[in-house]
Amino acid sequence: MSDKNGLHLPGWSITSSKRREHIGRVVALLNRWAVALGLDERESRAWHDAGAWHDALRDADERALRDMTREHDRPVGLLHGPAAAMKLERDGEPRRDVLDAIRWHTVGCATWSRTGRALYMADFLEPGRGFMQADRAFLAEQVSHAFDATFRQVVRMRLEWVLREGKGLSPETVALWNSVR
Ligand SMILES: [Fe+2]
Repeated sequence: MSDKNGLHLPGWSITSSKRREHIGRVVALLNRWAVALGLDERESRAWHDAGAWHDALRDADERALRDMTREHDRPVGLLHGPAAAMKLERDGEPRRDVLDAIRWHTVGCATWSRTGRALYMADFLEPGRGFMQADRAFLAEQVSHAFDATFRQVVRMRLEWVLREGKGLSPETVALWNSVR
């Protein structure tokens, strides 16, 4: 399925038009960084595809997500990444970095390659989000010359938000923070 932004979403995607606009902005940011960093064809493609597919099931209903992932305890908001990665793998997607980026994009992963780290940053820094616009735009500019330091800062900001909201921290998020702090 190809939408008006030229994004190729899997046939099983369940995404609202607002969600597809978010996905388009994430992909645009990843493409911009890939060019600025001079990535090779393989890695640019991986970044692009991870961005295009990460929220493919973000608007699926809770029952469908729990059935797909057989997860009955974790908060439903954490399931769309694992569900999309499972579907892609079943469809024959072989790239581990793309699958891991999508699987863990909501909670983070301490063993990510650059693909997962780039998606985690782009999902948070894309300009359509309403909060901290100046700070996030500044960080988006830093990625191409200070990738690791910017990643650390984004991990920290996302973690602070989770704490402020009084939400629980996933073990994956704690491990990610301990790996970059
Ligand atoms: Fe997203």
